[in-house]
Amino acid sequence: MSSFAYINNALCVDAVPLAQLAERYDTPCYIYSRSALKERFGAFRQALAGRDAMVCYAVKANSNLAILNVFAREGAGFDIVSGGELARVIAAGGDPAKIVFSGVGKTIKEMQQALEAGIFCFNVESAAELDRLNDVAGTLKKRASIALRVNPNVDPKTHPYISTGLRGNKFGVAYEEALALYRHAKNLPNIQISGIACHIGSQLLDPSPIAEAAEKVLVLADQLAEEGITLTHLDLGGGLGIRYRDETPPTVAEYLTPLLTRLANRKEKLLFEPGRALVGNAGVLLTRIEHLKHGAEKNFAIVDAAMNDLMRPALYDAWHDILPVTPRQLDTQTYEVVGPVCESGDFLGHERPLNVEAGDLLAIMSAGAYGMTMSSNYNTRPRAAEIMVDGEEVFVIRERETVAQLFALERIAP
Ligand code: LLP
Repeated sequence: MSSFAYINNALCVDAVPLAQLAERYDTPCYIYSRSALKERFGAFRQALAGRDAMVCYAVKANSNLAILNVFAREGAGFDIVSGGELARVIAAGGDPAKIVFSGVGKTIKEMQQALEAGIFCFNVESAAELDRLNDVAGTLKKRASIALRVNPNVDPKTHPYISTGLRGNKFGVAYEEALALYRHAKNLPNIQISGIACHIGSQLLDPSPIAEAAEKVLVLADQLAEEGITLTHLDLGGGLGIRYRDETPPTVAEYLTPLLTRLANRKEKLLFEPGRALVGNAGVLLTRIEHLKHGAEKNFAIVDAAMNDLMRPALYDAWHDILPVTPRQLDTQTYEVVGPVCESGDFLGHERPLNVEAGDLLAIMSAGAYGMTMSSNYNTRPRAAEIMVDGEEVFVIRERETVAQLFALERIAP
């Protein structure tokens, strides 16, 4: 059951009306449901029960400390892509020994930081990175545990900006080159080969490309075994899609069960790196209509959230459902739902039928993933507050930014 539902004509999160939260904390604000987060993580745990497996939440999807803490308490591992995300996971009580570090541009500092923290594995994305990691580990007198992130060259059939496993992408080591690079890694004194990783893209609605990528990963793992390079884990990445509009993504079980069946007789530990599937539908962006503007060709609902708060519509032409928090019995009109930012690309939804008046609240749905983490301060707009609800309890998990904070680090040159 969704954690966001109408109760007596009022859109609620768990037991709390969103209108009450807007009154108390102002808008725009992100609202998350803790029970939804736990339920989503539970679905992974349940599907993986009895299997040596680790769910490493992809921090980039939503990196608020409170959200990381919910998953840490559920026993999650974490997939990070920067030293900043590493610091967040540790600050939130996450276990460094369950962290995998992905990303094509790891700096020396980030490598040091991760080695000192004792992370589970570096997902290495190039030969240059492997050599650098070997050097950095050597200076620290440590051994870095690694997986090569291979690029299996399968088409995930998703938006081109979020496809990552095709040959032309910057991600991973070319499949054909992986064997040679593992051989090289085997001879590096400060590298411990632990696994293999792949991640082919995001918002995947069809499980078959993941199965195809997994097959390729297995072929490589077997070739390596023949050469005496034994892997102890297989990391199949993230990517499971969610419903934004009318998609029918596989359930967590539908996505994992065929993979688990295929991998039933494999000894390797299995890792997954879901982001969106854990948080996407556990959050909404709550916004208030400032003005209605009836233009020559179009009607505009100008709201107090904008592309700086939720960039997905502007960047990917992504659809997010937009629901009235307190529906009215008026005639529907079609609106462009737009923010106050000075860009024509600043929209949250096109051609939405809405029964609204100025001052009404709208909920931009499915905003838990890649919402707040991709927000900016464009137009000197302080970033939104974030609230987490659990049943009847309400927690402010990030205060609204102030304008003073926005330029606190700036200096006027004398
Ligand atoms: N692992 C790696 C190595 C990744 O690059 C990503 C996402 C994930 C895991 C998590 O993928 P998920 O389970 O969330 O699909 N900003 C875009 C999505 C970018 C995804 C980048 N990588 C959006 O708003 O749709």
